[in-house]
Amino acid sequence: MKLTSKELREKWLNFYKEKGHIDIGGVSLIGDGSTGVMFNVAGMQPLMPYLLGKKHPSGKTRLCNVQGCVRTVDIDEVGDFSHFTFFEMMGNWSLGDYFKEQKTQWSFEFLTKVIGFNKDKICATVFAGNSDVPKDDEAVDCLVKAGVKPQNIYYLKDNWWELEGTTNTPCGPDNEWFYPITDKPCSEHCDVTCDCGRWVEVGNDVYMQYLKTDSGYTPLKNKNVDTGFGFERLLMYVNGLTDGYLTDLFLGVINYMEDALNIKYGEDEQKTKSMRIVADHMRTSVMLIGDKDGILPSNVGSGYILRRLLRRSIRHARKLGLTTQDLLNICNIYITKVYDKAYPLLVEKQQYILDSIKAEADKFEKTIIAGTKEFEKVVSGINRKNEFMAKSNPGYMPETTISGKQAFRLYETYGFPVEITSEMAAEQGLTVDMDGYNKAFSEHQELARTAHKGENKGGLSATGEKETAYHTATHIMLAGLRRMFGEKTVQKGSNITHERMRFDFNLDHKMTSEEIKTLEDFVNNVIEQNIAVTRHEMPYKEALNSGAYGIYNGTADEVVSVYKIGDIDFQICGGPHVQNTGSLGKFKIVKEEASSAGVRRIKAILS
Ligand code: ALA
Repeated sequence: MKLTSKELREKWLNFYKEKGHIDIGGVSLIGDGSTGVMFNVAGMQPLMPYLLGKKHPSGKTRLCNVQGCVRTVDIDEVGDFSHFTFFEMMGNWSLGDYFKEQKTQWSFEFLTKVIGFNKDKICATVFAGNSDVPKDDEAVDCLVKAGVKPQNIYYLKDNWWELEGTTNTPCGPDNEWFYPITDKPCSEHCDVTCDCGRWVEVGNDVYMQYLKTDSGYTPLKNKNVDTGFGFERLLMYVNGLTDGYLTDLFLGVINYMEDALNIKYGEDEQKTKSMRIVADHMRTSVMLIGDKDGILPSNVGSGYILRRLLRRSIRHARKLGLTTQDLLNICNIYITKVYDKAYPLLVEKQQYILDSIKAEADKFEKTIIAGTKEFEKVVSGINRKNEFMAKSNPGYMPETTISGKQAFRLYETYGFPVEITSEMAAEQGLTVDMDGYNKAFSEHQELARTAHKGENKGGLSATGEKETAYHTATHIMLAGLRRMFGEKTVQKGSNITHERMRFDFNLDHKMTSEEIKTLEDFVNNVIEQNIAVTRHEMPYKEALNSGAYGIYNGTADEVVSVYKIGDIDFQICGGPHVQNTGSLGKFKIVKEEASSAGVRRIKAILS
């Protein structure tokens, strides 16, 4: 390694200390609740009051640190070369001190002098402006002055940074830094906006000069800078690597797996993906349990996310052939070799971390074999049915869905989080009926509630209610999409967890940022109007005649359940839904991307 992870942390801190900053250290990974965000997702999160104008306790206006962050919105992306659920952000801040000119110069200097980037290949994106805030010509001037080639600078509408799902927080236009992972473009149009994987975002300078309020954006008294550079990604580049899992943060763990399994990382695509998932999820689990406000696996909130991370990595470990002891050995590599200096608390809590992970593994191990068998039975049942039907009926469309009841049984009896069942289903080319799952979930809750009359079953109900809210939001969003793109727009897939919704639909182009904004506004407007959601039962034929739409595979006379959201949406659906749209909170699209040819995928959150 040209530069070890430990050295890179030092380089960052020294670079900014020499420029008058003080190292403020990191804070806990677990959110303090003040912003409603479960984990610390950005280095600026604990600095909110100071970016809003409060004096920092150090008395200084130039700060820096290296901060651990946990983001699970992209959990499905883990398995490629550059996504991680835990990552470190190298940060520095100006609290009303220097601004764009100085910042671009230092960021450029760090990338070229410390990381060794070729200055001609560095690309930057800046804010293209909207009706509230003008386009950032000033940043472009500064970038050119710093040394970025003018043709490598792009104005983009998306270059705006704020902490998702919060209000009364600072935000502003940002300048993102990109570097190509290879010199080979995927096509003649392969520039920084291409999503082929060649362009990796390595850092972000946010010019925090606005306050986000319920009614819009107002200028802040202070003009601040909030910088976050990706530690894992830069460590990869600085060592001439094209895979983040080959840096010294992971290499010991990857080598351990290669030895234990007698396989080579990178040779088999599926195995490599599983190795990355194990490496990433075990690391995040160690960090979350070993944090100063550490958490344990449970069925609710952040504990549920930890449980999912652990169980998912246990499943992939099993697939690879790793034992629980192997997983504990992997944890030990992280605790004693990789993070001992930067996170000494992990060493102190070593035994506690290992015991907690072992307890969860033992619990899940007891049911994983039986659960996997049960899952395989479900799959072969579907296959048998398809074969049988196809023989007698040449036009038969094969069944590709695992029912919600079956998925719920896997959760309830075998402890398979539904996200894991969905992932296993996808490996077989199947999907899980999430509507049906959510329905089974709330029916179960209802039973539990009646059975225990008022006894606190908060865990399950908190999770279920959130999922119900996402389900209703999905209906409103589809109604919006149909208004924007016509009634040919239909659902191509839907997946809901208590943290976010994911929705696939047919559309022939990438949505523009105006279209995304229009859609968000549409949904939020329906939410604000607090419209009643009502359930009706009628024969399928009648539902269609009265203008309902939706997926249904029964006969014309069968009675179906239809949900109506005022005159906004009228959809055939099993439910459950909220009673009034007003309870949904604020709707925000966090991602719009291609899912397959002609199909787009939206991820959105409610807060
Ligand atoms: N807060 C900015 C980010 O997370 C730096 O990208």
